[in-house]
Amino acid sequence: MERLVQGTRVLQVDPVNPEPEVVAKAAALLRDGDVVAFPTETVYGLGANALDGEAVGRIFAAKGRPSDNPLIVHIADTAQLEGLVASVPAKAERLMDCYWPGPLTLVMHKGPAVPPEVTGGLDTVGIRMPDHPVALALIRAAGVPVAAPSANVSGKPSPTAAEHVLEDLAGRIPAVLDGGETGVGVESTVLDVTTDPPVILRPGGVTREELEAAIGPVELASMSGECEKPRSPGMKYRHYAPRAPLILVDGPVLEMQEKIRDLAMEYAEEGKRVGILCSAESRGVYVASVVLEYGARGDLAGIASDLFATLRAFDRHQVDVIIAEGVPEEGLGLAIMNRLRRAAGGRVIKI
Ligand code: TXA
Ligand code: MG
Repeated sequence: MERLVQGTRVLQVDPVNPEPEVVAKAAALLRDGDVVAFPTETVYGLGANALDGEAVGRIFAAKGRPSDNPLIVHIADTAQLEGLVASVPAKAERLMDCYWPGPLTLVMHKGPAVPPEVTGGLDTVGIRMPDHPVALALIRAAGVPVAAPSANVSGKPSPTAAEHVLEDLAGRIPAVLDGGETGVGVESTVLDVTTDPPVILRPGGVTREELEAAIGPVELASMSGECEKPRSPGMKYRHYAPRAPLILVDGPVLEMQEKIRDLAMEYAEEGKRVGILCSAESRGVYVASVVLEYGARGDLAGIASDLFATLRAFDRHQVDVIIAEGVPEEGLGLAIMNRLRRAAGGRVIKI
């Protein structure tokens, strides 16, 4: 089934057994040097032939993305690493065995096949093998590695459904493969394996605990994004942000709830429409114009899966300010808090 939204083709595809004839249409666009959006297990990506600098340039244009922010190259087979990377460190090999396909991007020294547009001029390249039948089928059918950032307009929450891609990019891209909602909901973990110990540049779907179980200690890069030259260029930009300013409150549950109630009251007295983003357990605690829950506190995977869609939902409710509850920073909580901090752009209250 195919429909058009402002000129963008929406190609319905079975997420478990993708129809080859549908995938072929998207692959043809990639081979022709164009871009196409597709589902992965984390978020939707906006892909182009990673070996074609001009095609990759179209990704930056469609997203309004700063050209110094490098893209992740997606592969379907480790044989595709040839030419993309200069060498594969032993720890990287072990991680590929454990977590590929999956939400783990490995930053390695780049090989000669990678055009400078992909890496923003860096001498390293981030590579991952996505764990989604549609993404894998698309890469195989295209016959080339696929460079893809998240398929959102720069600065917005990443898309976890084709509808989100269309909200941001309808009329700006030729097509999106609609394979339903993604699963993990936050993007891949970006791990720099050019140093030992390796460094997490962006926490994501594979947790620090899982990485350390496979290869021993890993470090966590400073996430402030305020240093002179961030190791991951993506860290310095405001991201994941709904339209209204977001304030993140973090601390023990009862204190956090009390602080959020106080803030909500203050803003309401100023005549503002207040939105609150909280756990299922806290829902009854708050009185505000809009209270949206991101899931149960005990189920971090569930929270990760719904987080970006819930952030986007606040735009439809037209609130003036959003106050968000933090989660514990263990397991997937590290990635969730990283996205909430970035959405808050520095407005974090730690109790
Ligand atoms: O789950 C994901 O990773 C999704 C799906 C589509 O695969 N992709 C994604 O791409 O989130 P993007 O472009 O939105 O985020 C990539 C992040 C950015 O923060 C970028 O700066 C960092 O990875 N990155 C990419 N290549 C890098 C490199 N060579 N060195 C350091 N950081 C790099
Ligand atoms: Mg992104």
